[in-house]
Amino acid sequence: MTMKWSEVTPEADYLNRRAFLAAGIAALATPALGLGGAPSAFSTDEAVNSLEDITHYNNFYEFGTGKSDPAQYSGSLKTSPWSVTIDGMVDRPGNYGVEDLAPESALEERIYRLRCVEAWSMVIPWLGVPLAGALDKAGVQPGAKFVAFRTLHDPEQMPGQRSRILDWPYREGLRLDEAMHPLTILATGLYGRVLPNQNGAPIRLVVPWKYGFKSIKSVVGITLTDTQPQCSWQMMQPGEYGFYANVNPQVDHPRWSQATERRIGKGLFGGRQDTLMFNGYGDQVAGLYAGMDLAKHY
Ligand code: MTE
Repeated sequence: MTMKWSEVTPEADYLNRRAFLAAGIAALATPALGLGGAPSAFSTDEAVNSLEDITHYNNFYEFGTGKSDPAQYSGSLKTSPWSVTIDGMVDRPGNYGVEDLAPESALEERIYRLRCVEAWSMVIPWLGVPLAGALDKAGVQPGAKFVAFRTLHDPEQMPGQRSRILDWPYREGLRLDEAMHPLTILATGLYGRVLPNQNGAPIRLVVPWKYGFKSIKSVVGITLTDTQPQCSWQMMQPGEYGFYANVNPQVDHPRWSQATERRIGKGLFGGRQDTLMFNGYGDQVAGLYAGMDLAKHY
């Protein structure tokens, strides 16, 4: 499927992008991006969630633990200038600007399912670039096996970091082959627009076959390493949140089932739908885990 969100979304569910731009709607106070990216063979043709859902039902604990907290409190985050430090086992360590890592001309539209470990899901039209290309700019060295990511740590701008709900900064990690997989992107936009703060502006990771907590927001650091990185949720509750965190309907969270999910926007009586292995991306990614016991490596 190579369709754009504007072609696959029921009319009532979205604002036509051109009308949206022409009207200059400032609801998000984020500028529109020129072309909104080329469609991708990796996109789903499922109906996308509304911009309202995507930007008002969020997890971003740096701004509070309530679903509406990020939309309410992330306005204070200063997203420009912003650079991402890439270091560790790379040939060209340094600070890379968001524009260098994800030039507007290179942005692709990727319509991905997002499945949160809390058993809700959405479909989001991201704009971004493959992480592999960004890492190539820094030149990954042969001995590197993992990629560690970290979010900005600044309690002045991120008031949620004043409480110790997590060991800040938020940290995540991937195996190098997962990071280099073409489905893995650095997103700088959604719905044809610059990424709203509550969704992880100015640049965040999106790994669609893993639970949403792997898709770390507002990234300031990427480190190539030969040891498995520490991840915030895993450090806090290792029995509940693993390093891999692949979406898997057969491996339940210790406190709830992962067999089904609630698609946001379907309403109170929308019912639940079956959760798909690897969130429906098994054809592309199952090979990464050949021979691994996924109940053990959850
Ligand atoms: N990244 C940071 N820095 N802080 C967070 O609290 N929450 C994660 C992930 N990335 C989180 C984060 C979780 S649990 C989910 S489900 C997704 O972001 C939600 O992304 P969205 O709000 O853009 O839908």
